[in-house]
Amino acid sequence: MRSMVSRFGSCSTFAPLATALVTALTGVMACGQAEGESVDELPPGIEQRVQALGGSELPNNFPFLNAAGSAATFSTAGAVDLSNPFHVPQGANGRSCESCHLPQTGWSVIPVEVELRFWLTQGKDPIFNLLDADSPTANVSTTLARYSAYSMLRKGLFRRGGNVPASAEYEIIAFDDPPRAGGSLTRFEAFRRPLATANFHIARNVGWHDQNTNGSGDVHAGLISQAAGNITGGQQGAPAAPEVVEAIVDYEESLAFAQQFVFGAGLLTACGARGGPEHLSEQEPVNARFDLFDAWIDLVPGSCTTVAADRKRAQIARGQELFNSPNPGGGSCRGCHNAANNGSNVNGALFDVGASRAEFREPRMPLYTVRNKATLEVRQTTDPGRAIRSGLWADMDRFKTPSLRGVSARAPYFHNGIADTLEDVVRHYEVALGFVFTRQQRADLVAFLEAL
Ligand code: HEC
Ligand code: HEC
Repeated sequence: MRSMVSRFGSCSTFAPLATALVTALTGVMACGQAEGESVDELPPGIEQRVQALGGSELPNNFPFLNAAGSAATFSTAGAVDLSNPFHVPQGANGRSCESCHLPQTGWSVIPVEVELRFWLTQGKDPIFNLLDADSPTANVSTTLARYSAYSMLRKGLFRRGGNVPASAEYEIIAFDDPPRAGGSLTRFEAFRRPLATANFHIARNVGWHDQNTNGSGDVHAGLISQAAGNITGGQQGAPAAPEVVEAIVDYEESLAFAQQFVFGAGLLTACGARGGPEHLSEQEPVNARFDLFDAWIDLVPGSCTTVAADRKRAQIARGQELFNSPNPGGGSCRGCHNAANNGSNVNGALFDVGASRAEFREPRMPLYTVRNKATLEVRQTTDPGRAIRSGLWADMDRFKTPSLRGVSARAPYFHNGIADTLEDVVRHYEVALGFVFTRQQRADLVAFLEAL
């Protein structure tokens, strides 16, 4: 291995640490090129690593660590097939679906893993592509230039935009675009997290703009269009053969992803509980309360395993009931997240939870001032969500209600990543939507979310 001096010091010194981190997070292994040199050999993806270990599949329920414990995927095909075209680049730029939807990070990406990929490849992993730089005209000629050019991507945020439709009920009257993302008086550009590519067997709609299947329930058609669009868009490829797209979508539809183990509570299937990905794969898309942890309601400490573990289990069950129940502040979590034991919305409804409000804007986020053409009402938004596509004023800041399963694996949260932790999510609901929780209730609710 050649040696390299970077701001992180010598590469070889860090090799053992990198190997451990890499195995845990990415499956990527690369080290050694100096500033300005091109990366001649790109690091192998997780499928090559698994092949090197003698296979091309992840066994069902294979655990990946996260801050709350571990999460896993259960495939109805019997194992997670890492040789599916989902994991193979389909275009010219080296990206595959896996570049942005990794099984080890909740079928999304997380900032620490993107940062690691940056330093292992000096910002040349295919995920780093001008398409998703802070600005489409960024300078990406040196490692340091790339580091600053991809500051949003390193937070797990991808540049996504759209022109204001000609028929829109609103107009943009001012904008502030610190990263020069490309916003204008006729175009929005914003930064978004990748939604997870699992749990579609109980989904009702696809995509945050929901351009395909709002409420129609035709998730399969929505997934086909999303996959085909990514191959010609994000992967810069020629249109893929229909059977390739179909194979990708069948694969996505086979995957159930959920937390399986929580530190302090153990396996989420212990003593009658029904957590974990395997139970989830059998879940029907119905409007009903969460009942995963009913068996742990009022669990007598010491009756399942240890006193401490049973206390933690009872706490998770208390959190479940807080989620299911009306809140004194009005509304309930389940009011929107009403798909039983999943948390998406059974009608495919989108909502505004205030995440795009100017008051929650982070430093490099663009901000748009929009005006209703009929009423002249003015509001500000960092990302109008569904309204970009629909042009409707009522759709301002409305986003897909995502599945909440396996959330511990994919922080930060909301479409723009403004909540770093699940506790920040709960606090956001207190500030933005008027939910009221005591300290204890907040901790209980977080314990429940961590166990999803
Ligand atoms: C460069 C990163 C990137 C790549 C590559 C990528 N995606 Fe995505 N994906 C995203 C982002 C970001 C979003 C969410 C924002 C949006 O609406 O575009 C998303 C959203 C999705 C969704 C919507 C999920 C939901 O809950 O509605 C699906 C499905 C999806 N991607 C599938 C795929 C497939 C299949 C591929 C490969 C053919 C792929 N993606 C490749 C970044 C990527
Ligand atoms: C008005 C409908 C509504 C209510 C009420 C609501 N949510 Fe949400 N929730 C959403 C929508 C829509 C999103 C996606 C928002 C976005 O991406 O900006 C979301 C996102 C989330 C996320 C982040 C998921 C991710 O992957 O980023 C969590 C966690 C969550 N909600 C938990 C809760 C909890 C806990 C409550 C109750 C305290 C609650 N929600 C109340 C609609 C709602």
